[in-house]
Amino acid sequence: MQDQQAELQWRDGQVPVSTRFDDPYFSLENGLAETRHVFLDGNDLPGRFRDGFHIAELGFGTGLNMLTAWAAWEQAGHQSALHFTSFEAFPMVPVDMAKALAAFPSLSSWRDRFLEVWTGEGTCDLDTMRLTVIKGDARQTLPAWAGRADAWFLDGFSPAKNPELWGESLLSEVACHTAPGGTVATYTAAGFVRRGLMNAGFEVSRVPGYGRKRHMVRGFLA
Ligand SMILES: C[S@@+](CC[C@H](N)C(=O)[O-])C[C@H]1O[C@@H](n2cnc3c(N)ncnc32)[C@H](O)[C@@H]1O
Repeated sequence: MQDQQAELQWRDGQVPVSTRFDDPYFSLENGLAETRHVFLDGNDLPGRFRDGFHIAELGFGTGLNMLTAWAAWEQAGHQSALHFTSFEAFPMVPVDMAKALAAFPSLSSWRDRFLEVWTGEGTCDLDTMRLTVIKGDARQTLPAWAGRADAWFLDGFSPAKNPELWGESLLSEVACHTAPGGTVATYTAAGFVRRGLMNAGFEVSRVPGYGRKRHMVRGFLA
């Protein structure tokens, strides 16, 4: 799996759809608004941001979630680096990221700064963003990670199509790699994901989802 990359088709010439998982990378309706609702609001961001804050993510994809968080961090006036670590098994080549991210002109300055230096994996320092993308299957790479996040973005493809990214033991690893008082958020309200997060030790709540999705899930680790 180490050398595999994303396999894509484009819907309406704009939205990348994984042919491996038969699922789009972001909402066909409004990917940016959904990211803000699910992952920022769902983790009480930007309100919880403070120096040294660390976000971790399952599924880096196009980088949309990272750019959305980075923009919110700078717009909240932070001048230190936001730490963002993402786990990705099938990295997208930068030219495909650029094509996908073209749909979000309000993020263009962050996108351009990122893509200017991004080679596809590893760590890059962008003044106010310290990004690390750990390549490989998160079921193997997350247990080996030494870090702990203050907020998690759980953004695998839909649990029905990508169940390996939502399994109970991986969610336990998420809890083990969450700082006390840390949070998780995800767009899905699938029962087995909710139960997996509860069994991992999170206090879980179901809250309104974005757009046509009635619910999403957030969790808090005491
Ligand atoms: C919905 S997309 C993520 C979208 C992304 N957060 C964004 O901002 O564009 C799901 C991602 O999970 C990745 N993925 C699927 N299975 C994985 C696994 N076992 N380990 C790590 N990443 C995985 C896919 O390659 C894909 O990039």
